[in-house]
Amino acid sequence: MSDRVDPPMAMLAELTHRCPLACPYCSNPTELTGKERELSTEAWADVFRQAAALGVLQLHLSGGEPASRRDLVELVAAAREAGLYTNLITSGIGLTERRLKELDEAGLDHVQLSLQGVTAAMADRIGGYKGGFDRKMHVARVIADIGFPLTLNAVMHRANLDDLQATISMAQHLGARRIEIACVQFQGWALINRAQLQPSRAQVDVAKAAVAKAVEELRGALVIDFVPPDYYSDFPKACMNGWGSTGLNVSPDGTVLPCHAAETIPQLSFENVQDLPLSEIWYNSPAFNAYRGTDWLPELCQTCDRRDIDFGGCRCQAMAVLGNAAAPDPVCRKSEGRAVLDALLEQDVHEIAAPEYVYRR
Ligand code: FES
Repeated sequence: MSDRVDPPMAMLAELTHRCPLACPYCSNPTELTGKERELSTEAWADVFRQAAALGVLQLHLSGGEPASRRDLVELVAAAREAGLYTNLITSGIGLTERRLKELDEAGLDHVQLSLQGVTAAMADRIGGYKGGFDRKMHVARVIADIGFPLTLNAVMHRANLDDLQATISMAQHLGARRIEIACVQFQGWALINRAQLQPSRAQVDVAKAAVAKAVEELRGALVIDFVPPDYYSDFPKACMNGWGSTGLNVSPDGTVLPCHAAETIPQLSFENVQDLPLSEIWYNSPAFNAYRGTDWLPELCQTCDRRDIDFGGCRCQAMAVLGNAAAPDPVCRKSEGRAVLDALLEQDVHEIAAPEYVYRR
């Protein structure tokens, strides 16, 4: 490929797939990596050092639930020692006041707290975890007391999109500086629950207007990032800002991925950081180079004026919907795949969905 490859800026470390919650919209794979295959503390610390040397600036510590790792404080300390900015992405379950203070002392820079709903009934139903909402609210108060900069992450779908205004109010109430309102992305486990999670067009239109209003009203007080639902968009997003362009993921066992769902593309094989240096994987592995840049793009995208805006969209979505990872993202109105996506959408909205979510157990 001829495109110049820059070093990555951000790395998502999926420390573990273990998680006390069982959200039906989970984007992690349907088959999870067991605890026995997780990287050790020292192996992660080595990954962090390699990442910093490669040029990574921001480290997102995720999962599963990263607090399920007993060595989370040591991992944060190791990341800080490597010179990385550390962001913990958590449901809050498993974080006590003492642990949060230890994380502060270890140098944790930022917390992203997930929100499953604005009431205990909704949150505990979505998370499949009774009492989770109350524990989360307690954790949020401790986060505020310690003074961590806080971002609230709210995944929205058919059951909670109408609570958008209350969700934004909750972010203010909890002292968050930013809220990320992301409509569910249909990857991994979420695909199993697609029909139950898919919002209606009317819900989406109301939500977009509410977000636009809130952005104006809360300018300077709360930053609102909104990810509208893909299936209702006309053009795709630049997934990962372009494959292999600015970020990479490391899964619990050390497999290095261009995005969290990349393993759904069966013709790709992925290297492990226990076998090869991270820089070698980033620059030279066939998987990272498969869809990097624009040279590989199909004719439709090559000749499109959005070529350098969305880079053909999401490879994993093309795989999931069309069975072809090299096709234009089916969200694109200009693509043949759009008809397939529209048929799925029609089916989701009109089909009488199964009354219950399928939870991961
Ligand atoms: Fe893999 Fe979009 S999730 S490219």
